[in-house]
Amino acid sequence: MNRTWALQTPTTTYAVACDERGLLRSVHWGGRIDAVDDLTPGQLWDLSTNDLYADIAEEEFPLHGGFRYKEVGLRAVLADGTRELRPVVAGDTWHERGHLTIRCIDEDAGLTIDLYYRIVGDLDLIERWVVVSNTSQDRILLERIASAQFHIPFDDLRFSNVSGLWAAEFQPFTQPTGPAKLRLDSRKGVSDHRHNPSFILAGPDTTETAGPVWFGALAHPGNFFLTVEQSQYGGTSVTIGIGEDDCAVTLEPGGSFTTPPVVAGYTRQGYGRMSTTAHAYGRRLMRPGPRPVLYNSWEAAGFDVTDDGQRELATRARAIGAELFVVDDGWFGRRGQEADGLGDWWVSPEKFPRGLAPLVAHVNRLGMAFGIWVEPEMVSPNSDLYAAHPDWVHRDARHDPETSRDQLVLDLSRPDVRDHIFSVLDGLLSENAIAYLKWDANRPMAQVGPDRAVWWEHTAGLVAVVRRLREAHPEVLIEACASGGGRVDLGTLGLFDDFWPSDNTDALDRLTIQRGYSMLHPTKAMRAWITDSPNFLTQRDIPLRFRAHVAMMGSLGVGADLSSMTETELAELGVYIDQYKTWRPVIQEGALHRLDNPSPNAYQLYQFSVPERSLVFVFLPASRIGRRGTRVRLRGLEPDSRYRFTANWVEHDRSGAWLMEHGFDVWLQGDYASDVIVVDRIS
Ligand code: GLA
Repeated sequence: MNRTWALQTPTTTYAVACDERGLLRSVHWGGRIDAVDDLTPGQLWDLSTNDLYADIAEEEFPLHGGFRYKEVGLRAVLADGTRELRPVVAGDTWHERGHLTIRCIDEDAGLTIDLYYRIVGDLDLIERWVVVSNTSQDRILLERIASAQFHIPFDDLRFSNVSGLWAAEFQPFTQPTGPAKLRLDSRKGVSDHRHNPSFILAGPDTTETAGPVWFGALAHPGNFFLTVEQSQYGGTSVTIGIGEDDCAVTLEPGGSFTTPPVVAGYTRQGYGRMSTTAHAYGRRLMRPGPRPVLYNSWEAAGFDVTDDGQRELATRARAIGAELFVVDDGWFGRRGQEADGLGDWWVSPEKFPRGLAPLVAHVNRLGMAFGIWVEPEMVSPNSDLYAAHPDWVHRDARHDPETSRDQLVLDLSRPDVRDHIFSVLDGLLSENAIAYLKWDANRPMAQVGPDRAVWWEHTAGLVAVVRRLREAHPEVLIEACASGGGRVDLGTLGLFDDFWPSDNTDALDRLTIQRGYSMLHPTKAMRAWITDSPNFLTQRDIPLRFRAHVAMMGSLGVGADLSSMTETELAELGVYIDQYKTWRPVIQEGALHRLDNPSPNAYQLYQFSVPERSLVFVFLPASRIGRRGTRVRLRGLEPDSRYRFTANWVEHDRSGAWLMEHGFDVWLQGDYASDVIVVDRIS
C-alpha cells in the first residue's frame, strides 16, 4: 500500500498521506507538484495536554472519537451506544484514469469507510464521495455523514456564498474567515433560497483574474450542511455533506450508504477561472443541445388559464419567435386559486372543455413545442388526492399538518407515493405531446414525524421519481423551480435540465441575482424571462431594451402579457429574440467573464465568448454626475488574432492583445441604458 496518494490534474495536485501514527492526512491541495515523494505529512506533536495531535492533524476524513473537537466527517452510533471509532487505513485501489479509493476499516465496530476520488482532469477538478458499509451483525446509526472534508493551509481567507429569500435569491456576499466557525445549511428539504450548498474560499487579494481560490459544490438537491473552520493551529477546513440537522440514517447489517459527490477545484487565476471551470462542469451534467426560447403564461394569466386565452397567447408567442410554449399553474383539477387542486393532475373540464389536445395541436401547428407546469411533490387539502390519501403527507401524530401556500408535502420516502407520482406524470406525458415540464415545489417540508431518516429518504425518493420519469420520457426537458430559486445546486442539475432562479423578473434585481448565480452555475441552465413593465413584483419601470438584454444573458424566455403590448413593442421583442437565436451558442455554450468596470459610473460588463465571437453586454442602470463612459477590456482572446467590432458607432479592427490589454471605450447615456457589442474574430 502507498503511503502517499496524489491526484494530478494539469495544474493542480491533491495529495493525501498516511502519517506515522496511521492517520490519513491531507497533504496538499493547490498548484501542481510532480515530485510526489516530496508530499509527506507535516510533523506534528501534542502542543499541550489540551491541544492534542488528533485535533491538530489535518485529517482527510476525521471520525468522531478520541481527542477530536474539530469538525468531523462521520458520527456513528453502534448498537451498544458506542460512538468512538478507530478506523485504520486498510488499502487502496487505483482505478482507470487515476481514480482512487482509499479504504479505512474499523474492524471492532464493523464499519468500512471508502473514500472515493475521481479526477475531472481536463477541468482541473476532483470529485469526492464516501461509502460507509456496515459489516457488523447489528444496526449502525449514522448521525453525520459528510461527503468530504477539505483542508486549505491558510488562515484569514475570504469566504463567498449567496444569501437570499424568495424573490431575492443569489445575493452574493464575501466575508473574512476568522476564529469563529462558519456554518451554512438548509433544513427545508430543498437546497433552499437562503444559501447555496457550495464553498468559495479565496486569498485576501484574489480578484476576478488573479489569486488563489479553493471551491467546491455538493451535488444534492436536498438539505445540506457546510462548515468552515479556521483551526487555532493554522489552516482552514471545510466539511460539506447532506443535512445532518434532525437527520440520521440507519445502516442495516450488510448495508451501505453512499453520499452524494462534492466537486472541488483550485485555481490561482481568480474567481473568473473558478466560474468558467464550474460552468464547463455544469454544462457536462446537462443534456446536450440548445435550450429553446420559451414563452410562459404565468405573469400574463396567473391561474386564469383557459383554452382560448392560451391559444391566443400561443399565437402571439409564435409571432415574436418563441420556440416553446409553457402553460403555467392553473390548468388542472379544481385549481382556480392557490388553495385548491394540487395533486389532481387531470385537465380542468371548465378551463379546457376539450382537454389539452386541441391547445397542444395548435401550439405544434404553429411550430412550437408544448410545455406544462406541475408541482408533483405537493397536495392541496382541497383535492381528490388528499381526500383519498390523507396519510400520504408528512405529518406528526400529535398535531394537524400545517399548510403553507395552502398546501402539504407528499412523503416521497414512501414507494406508493412515488409510484403514484410517476404514473400520473407518465400518463400526462404519454397522452399529450409535452416536450417540457416546469416542476415546481412551493413550500418547505415540516412535521416530518419520528423517523429522522426521512429528510434523506424524501430527497432520494425525489431523485428516484425524476430519474424514472426521464428514463420513460428521455426527450422531455424538465425545469427545476422551487418558488423560484429554492433548488439550484449540482444535484438538481443533471436530474433536471434547467433552473428557474427567481420569481423576481425585475431586470435590475436580476442583474444581481444572475451575478450571484454565475459564480458556480452555468448560464445555459438559467432561465431568464423578459417580462412586463412595471414589474409585477417591484413596480419598477424599465425599458424593454434593458429588460431584454438582461434576460438574454441566460436561457431566454418571455413572460410578458403579449396581449397588452403594442405592435411596436412586439416587433422590438421579436428583434431581440431573433438576435438571441443567432447569439445562443455563444451565450449558452461560451465562457462567461464578469469584466471589471473602471468607471465611476456603475456600469456592469459581461463577456460571453467562443473562439470566433465574443458578446459584450454593457449595462448602465443609472447615469451619475460626470456622465463618464467606461473602458472595456476583454478576456480569453487570442493575443495575435484580429477582431472586428463596432463601439460607439465606429467600426474597429484590433488585435486580441489590444482588446485585452488596452480595451475600448463605451459610453452610454441616461438611465437603464444597455448595449451588446459583438466582437468577431476575423483572422
Ligand atoms: C411558483 C413559481 C412561479 C409560478 C407559480 C405558480 O411561485 O415560482 O414561477 O410557477 O409558482 O403558482
